[in-house]
Amino acid sequence: MNNLDPIGFFDSGIGGTSIWKEVISLLPHENSIYLADSKNAPYGEKPIEEIIALSNKNTDKLLEMGCKMVVVACNTATTNAIKVLRSSYTIPFIGIEPAIKPAALNSKTKSIGILATKGTLSSKLFHKTSELYSGEITITEVVGNGLVTLIEQGKQDSEEIKYLLIKLLQPMIDAKIDYLVLGCSHYPYLLTVLKRILPDNVQIIDSGEAVARQTKKVLEDLHLLNTSSAKGSHKLFSNSNPEVLRKLLDTAGNCLIEHLDF
Ligand code: SIN
Repeated sequence: MNNLDPIGFFDSGIGGTSIWKEVISLLPHENSIYLADSKNAPYGEKPIEEIIALSNKNTDKLLEMGCKMVVVACNTATTNAIKVLRSSYTIPFIGIEPAIKPAALNSKTKSIGILATKGTLSSKLFHKTSELYSGEITITEVVGNGLVTLIEQGKQDSEEIKYLLIKLLQPMIDAKIDYLVLGCSHYPYLLTVLKRILPDNVQIIDSGEAVARQTKKVLEDLHLLNTSSAKGSHKLFSNSNPEVLRKLLDTAGNCLIEHLDF
């Protein structure tokens, strides 16, 4: 493993590119490999054993491709599998958790909402974090049933997703939330429609920037930061629909997007 090796990313599909973009923007000299496991999306409704098995499969592939670190760009995989991954492999792992802390600390209405998958909201790791704040604030949790599947189909700006979100967000609006925490890496792609539905005072936060800062810190601490002055190159692979991935990303940069079986 050396500092020129790529950073590996995996997600249940295309959503983790919201995290990948933040990391690449903070660390422009890093090379990267991204695996979109769209064939197996959504992870959020699968049993924990299956989420762990899929996370192992993706990690094995990234290691085979020479990655120096793995960013688990999926909330469901982080909350259910990162402990097992860290104990099974020697490379460093970065995970994402819903940004409950900044929302809880800054909420004026003392009411925040969390939109995430069933797998994330029912995980032990999520419960541990939310319990820390549940005494001081009201947390309205909503399972984003159906959202990941529609985003995987490239329908993030569709009427279908708008009406689904109007229904899903109503309990949060009723609870007068002033922060909405996005607990799934697919959901930042819904920002435009979310802003249209929610009252103006509601702030929407995700974990992308925090994950990027943590990735940088860990690479620095382990002396694995890419010190090259060249712009990094990026390979993104989908095992189902590379076209949707291509449409989602600006491919003007050093980006290769292809189909790969894994
Ligand atoms: C899913 O595959 O259900 C969503 C991925 C995530 O939780 O970020």
